[in-house]
Amino acid sequence: MGEQIRLDKCLTMLGLGSRSGVKQLIRGGWVRIDGEIIREPERKLDAEQSRITVNGTAVEYKAVRTVMMNKPAGVLTAARDKKQRTVLDLLPPMYAAMGCMPAGRLDKDTTGMLILTSDGALAHRLITPGKEVGKTYEALVDGPFTQEAQARFAAGMHIEDADGTFDARPAKAVLLSPEGAQSLVQVRITEGKYHQVKRMFAGCGLTVLQLKRTKIGSLNLDPALKPGDFRELTEAETALLEQEETDG
Ligand code: URA
Repeated sequence: MGEQIRLDKCLTMLGLGSRSGVKQLIRGGWVRIDGEIIREPERKLDAEQSRITVNGTAVEYKAVRTVMMNKPAGVLTAARDKKQRTVLDLLPPMYAAMGCMPAGRLDKDTTGMLILTSDGALAHRLITPGKEVGKTYEALVDGPFTQEAQARFAAGMHIEDADGTFDARPAKAVLLSPEGAQSLVQVRITEGKYHQVKRMFAGCGLTVLQLKRTKIGSLNLDPALKPGDFRELTEAETALLEQEETDG
């Protein structure tokens, strides 16, 4: 049997209104559990196992929600910000109510794959460097990506700049295509130091013009997701997040 929660709390978490709003819905007889009208907001239920309908429409409660988003540029990876739009602002309020938080961080101008989850253990696995979950990026840089630069990524790099000092672990970097005077490079890292990819390229004398995360673990960004779009992961996809990559 799953966790028992109050009906009004469950409906609030599903984004169906404020606590007082959902109490009115319940008292007004709009809510059924397994076919029976329930008028007590305090009624406890196993929300994952019960069939809940509101005005005849089924609503699905899941204790854990994990979402893949194609983060657009110009949006902060944070829960809330007084002035700027955050990735949680792009999701229906239900996700914040259920405790979804970004697992890891992309810079404001970085696009691509972001996982938001209410599963604290999964978030921890994704962001802890020791777990070695790979993060793959495509970087457009402002010059030729030489074999020497590739070797520097492969050897690991000592970074010392205005943001501080750290030793970046060896990283696989592959030239995807020279774009005229620029180069498109795929990079896979297993850490998430502040501005890590940009700082590693800067260590090779290159500036990152655009950065997109395309893969976490063995899970690729769904190409059907346009910037700003999101969808929940299946269990099989969640498992892929933790697996060793089978390719590049
Ligand atoms: N590395 C960066 O420099 N920026 C990101 O957003 C992610 C990795």
